[in-house]
Amino acid sequence: MNPILRGAQVVVFGGSSGIGLAAAAAAKARGAEVTLVGRTASKLEAAARAIGGARTAVADIGDRHAVEAAFQTMTRVDHLVVCAGSFITGKLADSDPDQLLAALHERIAGPVYAIKAALPLMPSTGSIVLTSGQLADRPTGQGTSVIAAAVRGVEALARSLALELRPIRVNAISPGFVDTPLFDVFGPEDRAALFAQVSAGLPGGRIGHPTEVGEAIAFLLGNGYTNAEVLHVDGGGRFV
Ligand SMILES: NC(=O)c1ccc[n+]([C@@H]2O[C@H](COP(=O)([O-])OP(=O)(O)OC[C@H]3O[C@@H](n4cnc5c(N)ncnc54)[C@H](OP(=O)(O)O)[C@@H]3O)[C@@H](O)[C@H]2O)c1
Repeated sequence: MNPILRGAQVVVFGGSSGIGLAAAAAAKARGAEVTLVGRTASKLEAAARAIGGARTAVADIGDRHAVEAAFQTMTRVDHLVVCAGSFITGKLADSDPDQLLAALHERIAGPVYAIKAALPLMPSTGSIVLTSGQLADRPTGQGTSVIAAAVRGVEALARSLALELRPIRVNAISPGFVDTPLFDVFGPEDRAALFAQVSAGLPGGRIGHPTEVGEAIAFLLGNGYTNAEVLHVDGGGRFV
């Protein structure tokens, strides 16, 4: 078992689904105890069952008071993982700018609230992983400009906080296309068509599985000399 994660308390925002749930499972497999945080109690309970047990807390990461209340139920946080995020998209010409800018609040203010509330509970050996995404490096022209700016900002936040919060380590994960419920907004047919189109363009001919990103997050948590890093797990997608 990983000596850094064995017996560690790991809190995962966005832990009820997809990449966050896979990260929680990977941390558990390395001996950690996990707390899953999300907005939907029923999803959290199902996710906790799926990984053989976890604490849960309901909070919207964009709601400062709800985030603070979630941490008030905890006594120690060794590692914090932020995967919470929804797919807020739309072309600027056709959209309400404030609706698009909600992505900035969720992805920048959200981690800031969570880190601020977690810090008093974190030991100097602790670490944080934030979630960026391929959009930070590869524009699509398909209504993802504001969310791209938000995730690029996440990378800057991680690098900068790695110096500011030292010796607590701060890293970011940048997934490419990964098969998770994030894409349920498209409906089954459009989702299948999108995945087929993306897969055809990727060097490996397929999109990613959440466990592949979850394992990479567990690596970032459990490797004590990896800091201020943005780890891309995108099948090479940012270059094609
Ligand atoms: N899948 C991909 O291809 C991909 C690629 C690049 C980056 N990412 C990023 O990776 C992260 C995880 O995505 P995923 O694919 O695993 O999506 P997912 O399966 O939809 O999971 C998102 C998780 O975040 C929670 N969540 C969403 N908004 C939240 C909020 N405001 N406050 C608290 N919890 C919130 C969701 O639960 P509730 O809805 O119940 O709150 C859920 O647990 C996201 O930030 C996403 O943008 C994903």
